[in-house]
Amino acid sequence: MNLDLSGKRALVTGASQGLGAACARQLAEQGAEVILLARNADKLAAVTAELATRHGQKHSFLVADASQPTELAQRVSQHLAASGGAQVWVNNTGGPAPGSANSAAAEAYAAAFNQHVISSQHLLQVLLPGMRSAGYGRIVNVLSTSVKQPIANLGVSNSIRAAMANWSKTLAGELGADGITVNNVLPGLTATERLSGLITHLADGAEKTEEQVKQSMLASIPLQRFAEPEEFANAVGFLASPAASFINGINLPVDGGSTGSL
Ligand SMILES: NC(=O)c1ccc[n+]([C@@H]2O[C@H](COP(=O)([O-])OP(=O)(O)OC[C@H]3O[C@@H](n4cnc5c(N)ncnc54)[C@H](OP(=O)(O)O)[C@@H]3O)[C@@H](O)[C@H]2O)c1
Repeated sequence: MNLDLSGKRALVTGASQGLGAACARQLAEQGAEVILLARNADKLAAVTAELATRHGQKHSFLVADASQPTELAQRVSQHLAASGGAQVWVNNTGGPAPGSANSAAAEAYAAAFNQHVISSQHLLQVLLPGMRSAGYGRIVNVLSTSVKQPIANLGVSNSIRAAMANWSKTLAGELGADGITVNNVLPGLTATERLSGLITHLADGAEKTEEQVKQSMLASIPLQRFAEPEEFANAVGFLASPAASFINGINLPVDGGSTGSL
């Protein structure tokens, strides 16, 4: 099975911690030259410094904010003009704040649409020429199992993930002929800072201890534990690789079996 990404460049957005950082590490292990993007320069520098360089790759990072789509696209475009196009894009960013769908401000939906869908569209148009000229493109969107089964108390997130999933599925139909695949990986409960924040929020709202919230989450997972970020990144690394050449337009849950639908 060919998982080799040497000679390929990968952009990983939302890469300063959590799932994005784990994906950057995995792609570097597979030989890709990785460009990491997020807002926190210190964290980006620390993750970049740890990446594998066995294939002689020169990794780099880029400070940009996905809530400013035009500026984000300009910065990526300038960076790629210097380094060359990227053939792999792990499309990840921070999740919307938790809360019910009915109580969320309309502006929260607009902000999430801007940060997720509009920014993705801007970046897509920056990246497509390089993927097309290479005849190799792997777009892997980090979404959520809420694409298959909405999650209580994540109203804005549930809505925006569905929009991203349909954007992605439509692109999969349009770009396959150029050798570009578009797939979604759906994290279940994975041990990152995002999950810690969610547990705290749920405990405060329900007047429970964080341990009680954690135990009720674990009870919903057949494997009875949270995923490690590396387990999620393994799926992303596979979809980014030549081995996944005929996999296009899918939603792949990495959730320990917790989602209640196929
Ligand atoms: N962990 C889970 O259990 C889980 C489950 C389902 C879905 N998800 C979703 O999967 C994605 C990644 O999860 P995670 O747990 O790794 O989240 P995380 O720990 O909150 O990390 C989010 C990453 O996105 C970056 N980011 C946030 N806002 C950004 C912005 N405006 N512009 C650019 N970068 C931004 C953050 O870096 P900076 O702060 O440096 O910008 C960070 O690197 C999120 O969308 C999350 O909601 C996670």
